[in-house]
Amino acid sequence: MAKDTLSIIDNRTGKEYEIPIEEGGVIRAARLRNIKTSPDDFGLMSYDPAFVNTASCRSKVTFIDGDTGILRYRGYPIEELAEKSNYLEVAYLVVKGELPDSKHYAAWEQNIKTHTMVHENVKTFMEGFRYDAHPMGMLVGTIGALSTFYPGAAQIEDLETRRLETRRLIGKLPTLAAWAYRHSRGLPYVYPDNDLSYAGNFLSMLFKMTEQTYQPNLVLERALDILFILHADHEQNCSANAMRSVGSSHVDPYSAVAAATAALYGPLHGGANEAVIRMLMDVGSVKNVPDFIKKVKAGERLMMGFGHRIYKSYDPRAKIIKRLAYEVFEETGKNPLIDISLELERIALEDDYFVTRKLYPNVDFYTGVTYQAMGFPMTMFPVLFAIARTSGWLAQWAEMVRDPEQKIARPRQVYVGEQLRHWTAIEKRPEPLMREDAVSDSI
Ligand SMILES: CC(C)(COP(=O)(O)OP(=O)(O)OC[C@H]1O[C@@H](n2cnc3c(N)ncnc32)[C@H](O)[C@@H]1OP(=O)(O)O)[C@@H](O)C(=O)NCCC(=O)NCCS
Repeated sequence: MAKDTLSIIDNRTGKEYEIPIEEGGVIRAARLRNIKTSPDDFGLMSYDPAFVNTASCRSKVTFIDGDTGILRYRGYPIEELAEKSNYLEVAYLVVKGELPDSKHYAAWEQNIKTHTMVHENVKTFMEGFRYDAHPMGMLVGTIGALSTFYPGAAQIEDLETRRLETRRLIGKLPTLAAWAYRHSRGLPYVYPDNDLSYAGNFLSMLFKMTEQTYQPNLVLERALDILFILHADHEQNCSANAMRSVGSSHVDPYSAVAAATAALYGPLHGGANEAVIRMLMDVGSVKNVPDFIKKVKAGERLMMGFGHRIYKSYDPRAKIIKRLAYEVFEETGKNPLIDISLELERIALEDDYFVTRKLYPNVDFYTGVTYQAMGFPMTMFPVLFAIARTSGWLAQWAEMVRDPEQKIARPRQVYVGEQLRHWTAIEKRPEPLMREDAVSDSI
């Protein structure tokens, strides 16, 4: 009978090892340590830069099948959640594992809204940022600073503390994000309005002027809520990995969310939708698309918003956002950049370069044009992503804290530097520029 094991023969020693295959296709890398040439040998280890084939955890939060374009939170298809749910309900699902009944939903909504205010001192340090500070940089700083307001958050082993800080973070993120935007516009900060929905209150804190009560446009409010749902979690991406890795030192969740937000700031992650808009503006018009595609194929340009480490088919979120963009345009007028996006996609989906590499539109390809039509400046795009992803980061973090197999994250390395050498007096050292390898290795 076939066994769920892997047999390895070490040709250096002729010894055979049998390694269990778990979960239908997983081997524990630590087992390789038993494969040694002698008792004092370190043993084998796996080398996997960027974790392309290494699972760092067992997770129940999000399921992705990148080949067929499936995304599910806690088992629920993203398409159903985007159509039927709202962000706060999805945040509950992601964090707690089940959809709430009406009693639990009401309590959760009330609990989140209780925490939308921030300490008045937050205004003071917001003021310290330069007039043109990037709102994402401000967000990283202010989320981290919140840890100093809630020293009790360090008790991460305590379930009630984790629950409280989760509600606080989900509640306060829109306030910090909106205030970062208002600062960059030189506008007074707007306090939360808890009579509005999660997305509606955020729009109020961003765009309220002199009116007594801000009334969000219902189509745009729902569109933003759907965009939040689509961004709530995406399993072990760069920022979730940052959240888990930093959180594994048992630092408080504000510091870990600040680290995850910093990871999201990068152009290869949450900054990609801004890069998409810049690319579309650079292409300029539909007639320039073929030339631009040539440059991409020659390796001179990247097609931003295309390609994904996991999706090797159409990103299911991009499909939903492409439709949503037109609902938004009905209210706001068409963003002319959409014509360039559609032409890029049309040509790319027929072109061998993209087809053979399985490069399809990812979530960022259509979010930028949608956000721009809704009135968000490009610098706010990753901020919107961070608000939504906070629930996912906290779900990943809580799972990590409770998992008895997890320890402080600490990858191994393959050391390829100098062997032992001894200090010499400065006047006896060789000219460093003579050593080309040393120069090319330095930053
Ligand atoms: C997302 C991304 C970082 C994934 O990278 P990855 O999994 O490491 O994929 P690779 O870089 O190994 O790409 C495989 C091949 O496709 C090419 N490729 C990947 N993304 C490409 C893109 N956006 N435009 C053009 N070529 C691309 C690579 O050059 C490589 O080609 P090669 O085999 O000839 O060297 C990458 O696709 C990318 O930079 N996309 C643009 C940025 C973006 O939209 N990010 C948001 C992600 S949600």
